[in-house]
Amino acid sequence: MMTFREILIDTEAELLNADVFFGHGYESAHDEAVALVLTAADLSLMDTSAAILDTDYPSTATLKLRSFLNARCEERLPVAYITGEAWLGHLCFKSDERALVPRSPVAEVVLNAFEPWYQGPDPQVIVDVCCGGGSLGMLAKSMFPTAQVLLSDLDHAALSLASENSQIHAIDGIVRGDLLSWCQALCVDIIIANPPYVDARDMQGLPAEYHHEPGLALSGGDDGLDLVRVLLLDAARILRPTGLLILEVGNSFEALEELSEQLHPIWVELEQGGHGVAVFMAQDLAQWAASEDIANPVVSGK
Ligand SMILES: C[S@@+](CC[C@H](N)C(=O)[O-])C[C@H]1O[C@@H](n2cnc3c(N)ncnc32)[C@H](O)[C@@H]1O
Repeated sequence: MMTFREILIDTEAELLNADVFFGHGYESAHDEAVALVLTAADLSLMDTSAAILDTDYPSTATLKLRSFLNARCEERLPVAYITGEAWLGHLCFKSDERALVPRSPVAEVVLNAFEPWYQGPDPQVIVDVCCGGGSLGMLAKSMFPTAQVLLSDLDHAALSLASENSQIHAIDGIVRGDLLSWCQALCVDIIIANPPYVDARDMQGLPAEYHHEPGLALSGGDDGLDLVRVLLLDAARILRPTGLLILEVGNSFEALEELSEQLHPIWVELEQGGHGVAVFMAQDLAQWAASEDIANPVVSGK
């Protein structure tokens, strides 16, 4: 019989030896080992005390842990897809290959109630566009229970996972649509967006773990901004004058800086880690969109 402590040490060592990539919600072999060891033993990550460390690891859990470790070390599945769940902030979400593993650093901005950026009245409408399994929008609803929080995505599979998560966490609606094309003008207070933004070069170098995630969730074209360009124009159209867009672009932050001299992303200094999260004020976006119209007028007729 081995104790939890011994099993944890062995599991951590096996993860390190296998050189797995930590980019899907857990930052170290230790953290991943804790999740795998406890889940195999049907114990909760949140409510299990360190007092179990020197107790025997259940023999019934050993086979399950072995299959978890094979999936992690050989198939390179992210932990969330093995355990079937992922924590973001104070909420636990169902997670599987239908949608990206929840891990967006945008969560920090949501959990800070969009302060100090949002200066408008109590938000009435919040949209989580490119919602995947719905984690960011559901976090937003937990912070602003009286707001109408809508989630949208193009991918049926991602939306089916968001729908299952909505059985656990409140939200007000799920829409299938291309970016924000389905939204009326000037009716949204806050847009949360973690669109696909990985550029062509980064796509080629992605660790194996990312290949288990939906391709539609990651690839953003040559410079990573194929969808971001459309999204910015959509946001300018639908945000109320006091509104706010929170946009994650990760490594494509330089491309976004270079997109236009008229566009002024405010980069968020993230205390919990991560990078490439920008905030845009509605009025700045509206000015930029007007300058785009002047630079690229629509020519009608022949
Ligand atoms: C990077 S994932 C983000 C998922 C989720 N917001 C999160 O943070 O975990 C991007 C999402 O954008 C969706 N997507 C891709 N193209 C889209 C489009 N044209 N319109 C709406 N959603 C799109 C993908 O299906 C995917 O769920």
